[in-house]
Amino acid sequence: MINDVYILAIETSCDDTSVAILKNQKVLSNIVSSQKIHEIYGGVVPELASREHDRLIIPVLKKAINDAGVNLVDIHAIAYTRGPGLLGSLLVGTSFAKSLALSLDIPLIEINHMQAHILSIFIDDNPEKPEFPFIALTVSGGHTQLVLVKDYKNFVELGTTLDDAAGEAFDKSGKLMNLNYPAGPKIDELASKGDFNKFKFPKPKVDGLNFSFSGLKTSFKNFISKQSSDFVKDNLHDICASLQSTIIEILIDKIIMAKNIHKVNDFVVCGGVSANSFLRKKLKEIEKINRIKTYVPKINYSTDNAAMIGINGYFKFKDSEFGEFSDYSLSKYKL
Ligand code: KG4
Ligand code: ZN
Repeated sequence: MINDVYILAIETSCDDTSVAILKNQKVLSNIVSSQKIHEIYGGVVPELASREHDRLIIPVLKKAINDAGVNLVDIHAIAYTRGPGLLGSLLVGTSFAKSLALSLDIPLIEINHMQAHILSIFIDDNPEKPEFPFIALTVSGGHTQLVLVKDYKNFVELGTTLDDAAGEAFDKSGKLMNLNYPAGPKIDELASKGDFNKFKFPKPKVDGLNFSFSGLKTSFKNFISKQSSDFVKDNLHDICASLQSTIIEILIDKIIMAKNIHKVNDFVVCGGVSANSFLRKKLKEIEKINRIKTYVPKINYSTDNAAMIGINGYFKFKDSEFGEFSDYSLSKYKL
């Protein structure tokens, strides 16, 4: 019986190359190298992302080992993101994880990226942890999903986006206003000095707990194309505040609907958009008004990172029944 479990985790699903080392639920190191190369293209270029992962994976691994103060021989298992994500990016992490596990002769644990986002809340240094069952809203540049989490291994998807993710709505709208990719943080900053009632954008009518952001994107595009560039410049704060509040209200409405349908009071909100200050303000409001208690992982565990892969690896390693390890050549998850 192993007392302290050391997991080395690898995340390469999109444009962040990340390696983390965990001792049980404690993060010893979590190195994330965010690929800057995509900025000039206004979005992630898959081919470039794969090449960047290939270039960065060894230096990131070396730094993770160094910062954690461990040796590779101390590691009990390798956990890696098997999917979902960009095919080429995933293949770099998969091949690397397999080779490392094989050479160290230790188990390989494949992790679902979406489940990893959710369970990141159980990393030691998050101040508060929810009780099961809870509902998770995973909201980033690649995903917008509501998931009922019955326990560590029991996930039921309640709703997902039918088109764009919420982060994409921020990023693509930002591009129309000539903001750099990813535009979410900049829109958040500009919105803080704006009037969110100034302009009205339509909210989608999507049944149940699914989401849609493409209608909003189109209406925002039409709105911008009708204005002069001076008007956009002069009203940038108000435009950002109005757009931001529309996106966040879409998310908040679905949280409240999910609570009412499933009678669950605890919610985890994770993914890059969870950093949004207006969302955080609204979450505080619904805590009081709707008795919805929300748990948000620390921001460095909320955006794409390997520590969240590591915490999932830890749970799988501990649970021998659940923890069938990957055959080095097979996989349960679709890429
Ligand atoms: O989780 P993440 O780092 O990567 C994935 O997309 O998986 O999320 C990145 C997304 C981007 O769309 C970015 O614009 C958005 O999160 N984002 C924000 C904020 N910070 C990051 N969106 C709104 N407000 C923010 N403060
Ligand atoms: Zn993600």
